[in-house]
Amino acid sequence: MKFDVLTLFPEMFTPLKESIIGRAMKNGNIDISITNIRDFSKDKHKKVDDTPYGGGAGMVIRTDVVYDAYASVKTDGAKVIYLTPQGKTLDQKKVQELSKEKHIILLCGHYEGIDERVIDEIAPEEISIGDYVLTGGELPAMVLIDSVARYVEGVLNSDSIKEESFASGILEYPQYTRPETFKGREVPEILKSGHHENIEKWRRKKAIETTYQKRPDLLEKESFTKEEIEYIKNLKENK
Ligand code: ADE
Repeated sequence: MKFDVLTLFPEMFTPLKESIIGRAMKNGNIDISITNIRDFSKDKHKKVDDTPYGGGAGMVIRTDVVYDAYASVKTDGAKVIYLTPQGKTLDQKKVQELSKEKHIILLCGHYEGIDERVIDEIAPEEISIGDYVLTGGELPAMVLIDSVARYVEGVLNSDSIKEESFASGILEYPQYTRPETFKGREVPEILKSGHHENIEKWRRKKAIETTYQKRPDLLEKESFTKEEIEYIKNLKENK
């Protein structure tokens, strides 16, 4: 999968070179290319913004520089996304949907704002990462890349994907490793039993219990076995 990012702050994307996403790039599972919108300025001082028509504080990014940056990376069938607090909030379902794309172009806004006409012309899908306002679309673009890349073949091992929070609709069960005792807290006996079937059952119950305690709203959206429904009823009655 190819990601093209259009931004005025290319250096903000350095963290993507680390960890799992960095390894995925090195292995060729994903390709992330960062384009500096400023490189498309025709101004001798590389100016990209101007004062707003109608007056008011601040500056507005010009349509022509943004459009030319976009035109330089655009391919047929590319999915174009504009990161903005006005967009639809990103969730795991959307992440999974985007992971099926071949080429994603991410346009990062800036607190100054972009001339509306380039948004009208490109007609990108507008995505927000939550109901709060950031100084630009760079962190949201990184959040989107990180969450989507995880689903690209070869980036993670497929078991991690199967067991993770949200992908299965509910939260994950708790994990333990050595030491066996930490400040008087023991690793649950069952995990040392070697009985895989019982361990799986225990983990499923713990996942339901964790979801009930931390995100009960998720339980409403999921379907459960008869036995699990009984267990949830008990959790509710004993609270
Ligand atoms: N730009 C500024 N705030 C944002 C947000 N919450 N989501 C996406 N893009 C943004």
